[in-house]
Amino acid sequence: MKEGAFRSVDFRNDRVVILDQTRLPREETYLEFSTWQEVARAISEMKVRGAPAIGLAAAFGVVLAAKDTLDPRAEVRRALEGLSRTRPTAVNLFRALARMEQVALAVDETSLYPALLKEAWAMVQEQTEADRRIGELGAELIPSGAKVLTHCNAGGLATYALGTALGIIKTAHRQGKGVFVWVDETRPLLQGARLTAWELQKEGIPYAIICDGMAGHLMSRREVDAVVVGADRIAANGDTANKIGTYTLAVLADRHRVPFYVAAPLSTMDPATGSGEHIPIEEREPSEVLSFMGVEMAPAGSQAFNPAFDVTPAELIAAIVTEAGVIRPPLDKGIEQIFKGEVI
Ligand code: MRU
Repeated sequence: MKEGAFRSVDFRNDRVVILDQTRLPREETYLEFSTWQEVARAISEMKVRGAPAIGLAAAFGVVLAAKDTLDPRAEVRRALEGLSRTRPTAVNLFRALARMEQVALAVDETSLYPALLKEAWAMVQEQTEADRRIGELGAELIPSGAKVLTHCNAGGLATYALGTALGIIKTAHRQGKGVFVWVDETRPLLQGARLTAWELQKEGIPYAIICDGMAGHLMSRREVDAVVVGADRIAANGDTANKIGTYTLAVLADRHRVPFYVAAPLSTMDPATGSGEHIPIEEREPSEVLSFMGVEMAPAGSQAFNPAFDVTPAELIAAIVTEAGVIRPPLDKGIEQIFKGEVI
């Protein structure tokens, strides 16, 4: 790895290696896991997070189940089941596990470990290529000198390489477009302030962090030229689940005629789910809202509600940038075409 480079997920010496995102930006700590249960816990606790990275971590977790276990087949089955219960919204997790299951069913026991490992690395390869292509296609949508607002972290920390929404911004920056980024802090876990800012700083891209409630003010002053976000699951009609607060941004962008773009690999598309109302929305512990890094922020005994994602209706999305092309409204038609393998 080049200096300053990082890997959200890796597999070395029969161990899954994860950059602990809960400690960023204060510490760059890599954790090593030798069991799938540890990987499952790391996903639930968001030590690794972001839809594609969750899928890759889970895939490598399944690999561990086939290594040095008494009954590898049974253990792989348990891993597939256990890992599927970690986080419900990002469809990349379920797609990755389905692929691992297919491989496990197709090979004999002696080939289980190498075959699963090969499949997990193939997914890494595909994600790397998807990030690159999304970056290229998406950068075409970003005018020179644009002020781009992004939410949460859809960077390399959330995938493996360049990132999706942040990959577009990085690519535009590398092309010399002179972009500036408004980074939504992204309450309650501050993926924007902690993680996106960390990645932008490494790339030397100018940015300023704003509290989530400041976006409307900036848009009303024409300080935002585009909004670019990632996705956790995109339904067949284009409705898009992403980090809580994304929907608010989309409504604001619509009110102020700011283009609202979603960047996502095809592995984030879920054509089997018709519309956003059927996307399962993860609800996390109220403690994440009531305290931060162990410091209580509300009166003892306060209640809190903590949905981790919301759904942006397709009608508010100007385009979805995928590795296979840029889907413009009507999004349902474009998604259908892309899954038929048609060029768009
Ligand atoms: O709860 P998180 O941090 O896993 O949520 C992440 C997001 O919402 C990202 O925007 C999404 O996964 C896209 S990552 C390329």
